[in-house]
Amino acid sequence: MDVELFTWLREATGALDVTRDETIQSLWSGYGEITRVSLGSSTAVLKWVKPPRAAGDRSASDAVSHARKCRSYDVELAFYREVAPRCDEACRTAQLLAGRKREGEWLMLLTDLDAAGFAARRSSPRGHELLACLDWLAAFHARFMSTAGTPTDGARPLGLWSIGTYWHLDTRRDELANIHDPKLRGLADDLDRRLRAARFQTLVHGDAKPDNFCFTSDGRRAAAVDFQYVGGGVGVSDVAYLLHGGGRAAQANALDHYFARLRNALPADFERDALEEEWRGLYPVASRDFERFLAGWRR
Ligand SMILES: Nc1ncnc2c1ncn2[C@@H]1O[C@H](COP(=O)(O)OP(=O)(O)O)[C@@H](O)[C@H]1O
Ligand SMILES: [Mg+2]
Repeated sequence: MDVELFTWLREATGALDVTRDETIQSLWSGYGEITRVSLGSSTAVLKWVKPPRAAGDRSASDAVSHARKCRSYDVELAFYREVAPRCDEACRTAQLLAGRKREGEWLMLLTDLDAAGFAARRSSPRGHELLACLDWLAAFHARFMSTAGTPTDGARPLGLWSIGTYWHLDTRRDELANIHDPKLRGLADDLDRRLRAARFQTLVHGDAKPDNFCFTSDGRRAAAVDFQYVGGGVGVSDVAYLLHGGGRAAQANALDHYFARLRNALPADFERDALEEEWRGLYPVASRDFERFLAGWRR
């Protein structure tokens, strides 16, 4: 880290004694790093995005992928600025201590979820750990639920993706041609249309895999990170992605748990039956939509 970055960290936090602790991990495709920093008596987590400079011209598909990633960091910064402060304990997220975008780099200084009691990680959550992820999703989806019928209304003004999830069709047009199965290729637009046409829309996390949750040591509560693909959508898109690859019975049980929590988190006068009916019907559509992405994905 250079002197200018330390100066920014000191000014942003008011801490006199800022030091760099361990690197938590590098970002996808060499796009930067996540590092823990000490601020005197407390710690924070810095997500520092510095995309590699292209050596020559990027190929067309690399350019699309690069533009999508850059937009995703704008979205994540907007999420932490505008939405994270509205997330309550039941859908706990880190909070932004300071943020900056400058000269093609993004800096997000976040509260340290490990220090807040969410220090456990689980790549294959089981039992109540998986339920904790579903609890988080249900609370988040309930918190931002709308019935406007115009899905993009809520997300766009906040600076998020109007349609969330990292596999959303409009952001993956170039990969559609890679799908071998003509039936699935032909279905892609219809699946997307059905998800968009849902009456009940909310914000979806958009990359709700186990690695993006931080757990309490007993595994009974989770907080979420990684909001690059948050945007409008139906809650079952997050659920189908989280449960992808699980057995039929396990998915059915998990769905029951999710809907019980979702109903509970909504006000009594909300049309809970209509919501559950619509989203249960869309669960297989959301699963298929994700499979469409997998079938066309090359890297
Ligand atoms: N605020 C935070 N507190 C504690 N750990 C964090 C925080 N933010 C991120 N992490 C950890 O760093 C990992 C990578 O962060 P993430 O935002 O998911 O980056 P990437 O985009 O590379 O997946 C997360 O899986 C989590 O374990
Ligand atoms: Mg992540």
